[in-house]
Amino acid sequence: MTDPGSRQKHEQQVSLQLDLAARDRAHLWHPYTQMQTAPAPLVIVRGQGVYLYTEDGRRLLDGISSWWVNIHGHSHPRLNQALAAQARELEHVVFAGCTHRPAVELAEQLVALLPSGLTRIFYSDNGSTAVEVALKMAYQYWQNRGESRKSFITLHDAYHGDTIGTMSVSEASAFTRPFAPLLFPVARAYSPYCYRCPLGLERSTCQVDCLADLERLLREKGDSVAAVLVEPMLQAAGGMIVWPVEFLAGVRRLCDRYGTLMIADEVLTGFGRTGRMFACEHAAVSPDILCLSKALTAGYLPLAATATTEAIYEAFLSDDRNKTFFHGHSYAANPLGCAVALASLELFRTDGVLARVRALEQQLRARLLPLQEFPLVGDVRVIGGVGIVELVQDKKTKAAGGYLDQLGPRLAAEFIQRGLLLRPLGNVLYFMPPYVITEQETDWAVDQIAAVLETWQ
Ligand SMILES: Cc1ncc(COP(=O)(O)O)c(C=O)c1O
Repeated sequence: MTDPGSRQKHEQQVSLQLDLAARDRAHLWHPYTQMQTAPAPLVIVRGQGVYLYTEDGRRLLDGISSWWVNIHGHSHPRLNQALAAQARELEHVVFAGCTHRPAVELAEQLVALLPSGLTRIFYSDNGSTAVEVALKMAYQYWQNRGESRKSFITLHDAYHGDTIGTMSVSEASAFTRPFAPLLFPVARAYSPYCYRCPLGLERSTCQVDCLADLERLLREKGDSVAAVLVEPMLQAAGGMIVWPVEFLAGVRRLCDRYGTLMIADEVLTGFGRTGRMFACEHAAVSPDILCLSKALTAGYLPLAATATTEAIYEAFLSDDRNKTFFHGHSYAANPLGCAVALASLELFRTDGVLARVRALEQQLRARLLPLQEFPLVGDVRVIGGVGIVELVQDKKTKAAGGYLDQLGPRLAAEFIQRGLLLRPLGNVLYFMPPYVITEQETDWAVDQIAAVLETWQ
């Protein structure tokens, strides 16, 4: 760089970039962040594969898939290409009254992949809206059929999003407490959090009795229940709770027995995260409504899809316009998002993606289960590409600080020092990398986790 003009420009760019954290502090307000005490944000300038690069030259392994969205790695050439090609043709168009090839093709491909019977796709733009759509669809479905079903059953420890509706159906927690008077009431059945069985039972009987609790609610509420909403197999933000597969099968069975709808929130679990394309496949169940977002676009763009059956769709068909589903978002079916989602599905077909997740699962099991011996480790759980280590203060009593435990931020800071980006949920530490992670990289990440936990006070 000999030209003084270009050197000056380069120096200006560098100083602007180095200044970013301070400029961020001046105007930005970050999600889930106590701005008074949070450390300065990491300034990320580039992503490549499983790595993120900071402006001060550090490389961090993305152990949380950038909030659970990334699956094929950052800046994937084929996804980049699909995005650029689509941008040259059509970046966006209103989806009421118009359609476009990427939206149609994506719907066709999703329907072919989804559990049987889910044949209609309604697009929105994030996980919370995918669930809001599901709730509203279920609620209005019964009205359109002339039935009054006005309640929902959800599970304890559930997390379905941050809008008023999705907070209502999530567990009451620090996230929702300030808004409690605004939220609509729901009935909550126990989730099979077998390590901390809510009914104080053995692991082996926990899920049976959690199902009995759900059945009790269904019986009590009779035909007022519009739907039962669950995060199949992995309840994520509520503590990375992995279910016994029988519980998922049982939810479907009970919804059928009591004649209500089952909604599966696969916003996190969809697209291979649990080792199957969709978590419902573990128990071969088809819900009536299924919500997708996050990895739908492999972490590139905000897009969501709520899939449902012809029976539900048909209940909205009428000469009476009041039966219309009056719901829509400006960026519904954004063509850029749809094009990247199609390219992501193509990678699933050509690159053995699910086989890679299953290999990752084996490795995580082999490497994480021995950590159970550490004094600090209460439970180790693995499902698909997610490895979970639940930390306790005392193994016998299982005492732990929960989500607001300072342990989480302290551990996160320690891992960042070591080049690993993790974001523990309080005392629940989890590792959820993009599926393109290599065996060596996984070994390295688990080595960091083991080294920190072995000596942690
Ligand atoms: C199961 C589940 N549902 C819904 C959401 C909400 O998604 P979003 O953050 O895109 O609104 C999340 C987010 O973590 C989730 O894990």
